[in-house]
Amino acid sequence: MERVATGTEHVSPEILDYVISHSTPPDAVLDELRKETARRFPDWAVLQIGREQGTFMALLSQVIAPRRAVEVGTFTGYSSICLARGLAPGGSLLCCDVNADWTSLAREYWQKAGLADMIELRLGPAAETLRSLPADASLDLAFIDADKTGYATYWDEIVPRTRAGGIILVDNTFLHGRIFDDDPDPDARAIRDFNEHALADDRVELAMLSVGDGLIFARKK
Ligand SMILES: C[S@@+](CC[C@H](N)C(=O)[O-])C[C@H]1O[C@@H](n2cnc3c(N)ncnc32)[C@H](O)[C@@H]1O
Repeated sequence: MERVATGTEHVSPEILDYVISHSTPPDAVLDELRKETARRFPDWAVLQIGREQGTFMALLSQVIAPRRAVEVGTFTGYSSICLARGLAPGGSLLCCDVNADWTSLAREYWQKAGLADMIELRLGPAAETLRSLPADASLDLAFIDADKTGYATYWDEIVPRTRAGGIILVDNTFLHGRIFDDDPDPDARAIRDFNEHALADDRVELAMLSVGDGLIFARKK
């Protein structure tokens, strides 16, 4: 099986292959998107969530059936397709990103997946997009997977806008294992600080899952 670095270094290659081969595989659209991303943006394809994480997030979204969902960090659209497939009838997913080139591929695949009418892309710094949203707690599902130094800001904008019982997912909470040392790198510091920030937030209960490169699964109280 072709192996793609998705931050799963904490799991042995054998276990990862086993996990992937014992999870429902992605469909042809997601498979093609992964290949097309690697072809068009070979240096950046690692930004995409892994197949097994995509399957998990799609199932979770189907269980929640969100009417309003937000994604912070869309890249070429893999995770957004997984999330959008669970939307309730009439539901919508708002995608936040700054890169028009990467998200143009996402737009192509939203069309191919038959999801284009349910997804809105806002190009611009996610902090500004989130601040422009209504202040009422109406989000059912959110996924944070953008610049690491922005995580605490995104969290602080999203938590009050999430309904009681709503779910917030946060990616890369292991940051490839760099959370353990005193790595002065801004991203490593940001994730270490963010993980403490989220844990101390008594508006949510959370479990950090060993999925992909670490995934916070938080439920608003
Ligand atoms: C790790 S990638 C997202 C991967 C995507 N979730 C997937 O599974 O394919 C991070 C994305 O965050 C975007 N990003 C970086 N800084 C941002 C910001 N300040 N506001 C919004 N998006 C940002 C990048 O352009 C990039 O597409």
